Amino acid sequence: MARPEPGLTLIGGGRMGSALAGGWIKSGYEGPISIHDPKPSDLLTEWQAAGHIALNPDPTPAATLVIAVKPQVYPDILGAIRALVGPDTLVLSIMAGVTLDALARDVGTRRVARAMPNTPGLVGEGMTLLCPPADASDEDTAYLHDLLTPLGAVEGPIGEDQISAATAISGCGPAYAFLLAEVMAAAGRAHGLDEGLALRLARKTVQGAGVLMMDSEDPPSRLRENVTSPGGVTKAALDVLMRDGAMPSLMEEAVGAAIRRDRELSGE
Ligand SMILES: NC(=O)c1ccc[n+]([C@@H]2O[C@H](COP(=O)([O-])OP(=O)(O)OC[C@H]3O[C@@H](n4cnc5c(N)ncnc54)[C@H](OP(=O)(O)O)[C@@H]3O)[C@@H](O)[C@H]2O)c1
Repeated sequence: MARPEPGLTLIGGGRMGSALAGGWIKSGYEGPISIHDPKPSDLLTEWQAAGHIALNPDPTPAATLVIAVKPQVYPDILGAIRALVGPDTLVLSIMAGVTLDALARDVGTRRVARAMPNTPGLVGEGMTLLCPPADASDEDTAYLHDLLTPLGAVEGPIGEDQISAATAISGCGPAYAFLLAEVMAAAGRAHGLDEGLALRLARKTVQGAGVLMMDSEDPPSRLRENVTSPGGVTKAALDVLMRDGAMPSLMEEAVGAAIRRDRELSGE
């Protein structure tokens, strides 16, 4: 199958949908972009006024349809979605918990794929998982990979059997990192630091460690060792966090719980 025809239709112009569309516009996407959203934001209205998008045009089958509504809304708007799907439409869903089989059945084509972004995608620093069906064409997969790049890095194709575990790392992971900053700040306060200072130190440290990690060839374990001199201050703290494997086993258990919940919500 050839590369999909140019032309993008987005249903759901909320946070993620707008982050994607903003990137398509900025990169000078070659085809027309239509966005369907019953209560368009000021940003969508501005894009329409500037001629970047068609906002809520009459529904016609899309070349590529991107579904970015909340999963709770999805069952109620299947009729509107089907009006945007024709025999050649390529459908990408970024909704959590809607499986490829359910999507294909609901929209009436096997030419579907799902993606799982994460919240740093809102600032272009995301990690998005792309999960096409096993028989997807390389052209469709490559095209969808490109379409997702406004959100940041894209991993895939990932098999649907891996999506729950991958989601438990990158989809839920920002919350783990926020929790780390939160508990670091709380510990600083508990040990006498001013609240604002403790929070500033924790936020900047988590961000700086992330940037350093991405800038380095070394794995995180080596970077950790590099700041942990024998008998030193950091070592004293890490000895507590790693006592009896506490932090690794807690994280493994937490990720296991996320995987189970993701599978329950996906009806598996
Ligand atoms: N944010 C994340 O980190 C993240 C991560 C992974 C996956 N996702 C998935 O991404 C999807 C979008 O998330 P989001 O954070 O961007 O949510 P959001 O900001 O609530 O965006 C959803 C948009 O869909 C609009 N909408 C509601 N009914 C509609 C209809 N009938 N037709 C067209 N549009 C309609 C909403 O409008 P109203 O606001 O007026 O209702 C809103 O603008 C969700 O399925 C979510 O599971 C998000």
